[in-house]
Amino acid sequence: MEKLLVIYLLLISVSVATSQSVTDPETFLRCIVREGLNPPSFTSDVTYIPSNSSFTAVLRRRIPNLRFDKPTTPKPFAIVTASTWGHIGTALACARELPVQVRIRSGGHDFEGLSYTSTAPFFVIDMFSFRSVNVNLTEGTAWVDTGATIGELYYRIAEKSNVLGFPAGLCTTLGVGGHFSGGGYGTMMRKFGLSVDNVVGSAIVDSNSNTYTDRVSMGEDRFWAVRGGGAASFGIVLGYKIRLVPVPERVTVFRIGRTVGEGAIDLLMKWQSFAHSTDRDLFVRVTLTLVNGAKPGEKTVLASFIGMYLGRSDKTLNVMNRDFPELKLKKTDCTQMRWIDSVLFWAGYPIGTPTSVLLNTTVANKLFMKRKSDYVKSSISRTGLGLILKKLVEIEKVEMNWNPYGGRMGEIPSSRTPFPHRAGNLFNIEYLIDWSKAGDDVERDHLARAREIYRFMTPYVSSNPREAFFNYRDLDIGSGANSTYEEGKIFGNKYFKDNYERLVDIKSTYDEINFWRNEQSIPVRK
Ligand SMILES: Cc1cc2nc3c(=O)[nH]c(=O)nc-3n(C[C@H](O)[C@H](O)[C@H](O)COP(=O)(O)OP(=O)(O)OC[C@H]3O[C@@H](n4cnc5c(N)ncnc54)[C@H](O)[C@@H]3O)c2cc1C
Ligand SMILES: *[C@@H]1O[C@H](CO)[C@@H](O)[C@H](O)[C@H]1NC(C)=O
Ligand SMILES: *[C@@H]1O[C@H](CO)[C@@H](O)[C@H](O)[C@H]1NC(C)=O
Ligand SMILES: *[C@@H]1O[C@H](CO)[C@@H](O)[C@H](O)[C@H]1NC(C)=O
Ligand SMILES: *[C@@H]1O[C@H](CO)[C@@H](O)[C@H](O)[C@H]1NC(C)=O
Repeated sequence: MEKLLVIYLLLISVSVATSQSVTDPETFLRCIVREGLNPPSFTSDVTYIPSNSSFTAVLRRRIPNLRFDKPTTPKPFAIVTASTWGHIGTALACARELPVQVRIRSGGHDFEGLSYTSTAPFFVIDMFSFRSVNVNLTEGTAWVDTGATIGELYYRIAEKSNVLGFPAGLCTTLGVGGHFSGGGYGTMMRKFGLSVDNVVGSAIVDSNSNTYTDRVSMGEDRFWAVRGGGAASFGIVLGYKIRLVPVPERVTVFRIGRTVGEGAIDLLMKWQSFAHSTDRDLFVRVTLTLVNGAKPGEKTVLASFIGMYLGRSDKTLNVMNRDFPELKLKKTDCTQMRWIDSVLFWAGYPIGTPTSVLLNTTVANKLFMKRKSDYVKSSISRTGLGLILKKLVEIEKVEMNWNPYGGRMGEIPSSRTPFPHRAGNLFNIEYLIDWSKAGDDVERDHLARAREIYRFMTPYVSSNPREAFFNYRDLDIGSGANSTYEEGKIFGNKYFKDNYERLVDIKSTYDEINFWRNEQSIPVRK
């Protein structure tokens, strides 16, 4: 008995010693030197520890959300900016040896900062230098490394062809690694589905530093998992092979705003039946923002209908005047442009901005951000719409994007990829709240506003489960500090519905030690 206790205490002290020593960056560096056979320059141009004068700049380079860039934010004890498979393999060998947690970062746009923060001692494998894009026109495909931004991808495609594009997100600084592995939606989803619906191959490194360079060697179910299930639960995805999609030489964009006083509620009523059922060449998003009302000090909601038609403006007018005549779209509201210029339009650049800005991956204005999401499956009544807009005015500062589904989205079976929100969804809601003033009270106040609108929306959105979009990461809907199956089920059913069980099976097969984990990773079945 006593002997056992001694051994037990010894074990505890050993594990305490280990966990203390690993937070020491020098120990990590020594491990990297020991494990890293090639290239010899490994430590000097790839591994950053806090004493290095560039450490903070390298860490911040891909932190767009100021909420996770505070002095109190847990920081990694090292950042490995891998540029070869060998670097990744070596870094993982040290993660196993020490042992410590790894966070994988591509574009760093995770809304809860999970790619570069952790409560346990950790280092970051940063894919920043891992970002080549190879477009093959003969095949109509491209290979894109996960550290590339989708802006770089769009640019490289357009550089070779003005009639090919790719369906991915609106914000051009998103990283391919997080964006694709969480689904990836954008303005062409009604015609071509999500990014993952157009992925045909991939490559992954597992926790033993083994690299699987194609779909066959990584296994069909792991390939399935990294197309919407969040790759951070399964390994480090090195790249994706994608099928490019045809785009016309000219597309048409427009933006029309109407306040409540100008009939926004009637238009939203009509939009709910139109947007998911119209031609799949047409995507009309709604954004709800606050503007000054008629009386001084009064606020009202502005509903902006922002659209893109994959074709010329005469066709756009035909379709809009047939399916949504109430909006009274005119030729002068429409701007024709190349598809690549529409990418800049959606990203918020003024018309005429040179496409080379897509190669600049620095986020322009960083803000504190919180996001939440919902799915709407049946039209909200006129009364409901009125109450929602009134609530937006009352809460202040929260905005919404309504993204229409239907078209191709409704045809793809919900089990084809881990992303389950397919047929039967009218639109997705993104709740946005941004702020620029630092401070715990300010933050608490803004988070409370986001949670209040979310509570208020309960009767209008999906239930059992209340579905959520994985790429709009939200720890409020459940998080698994202990990574148990039951904990995972809470957020897992919302993000993945019935696909959660298959993800747990795949996780149990390929990562039974739960090496790859974070607050919302897929747990192992126990
Ligand atoms: C301003 C803004 C606009 C957005 N707009 C859209 C949009 O239009 N459409 C849309 O679908 N989503 C959108 N999103 C959400 C976005 O798709 C997700 O945040 C996505 O995860 C970002 O990918 P990332 O590589 O930049 O993020 P990261 O923070 O680097 O990674 C996100 C997650 O993926 C993991 N990961 C990253 N790289 C790898 C890898 N190589 N292997 C394994 N795991 C990896 C990380 O560990 C983390 O868990 C937006 C987000 C922001 C901040
Ligand atoms: C910081 O790290 C970089 C990359 O590892 C290296 O080139 C540089 O010499 C280091 N600088 C300092 C001051 O340690
Ligand atoms: C493009 O793909 C074709 C067909 O698979 C292949 O023969 C060719 O070498 C590829 N070209 C490039 C530049 O990779
Ligand atoms: C890249 O964009 C950032 C943010 O907008 C800007 O500050 C910087 O000057 C740009 N860099 C180049 C080379 O244009
Ligand atoms: C989960 O982990 C937390 C701390 O990480 C701990 O306090 C709690 O007791 C754990 N819960 C279970 C059910 O193990």
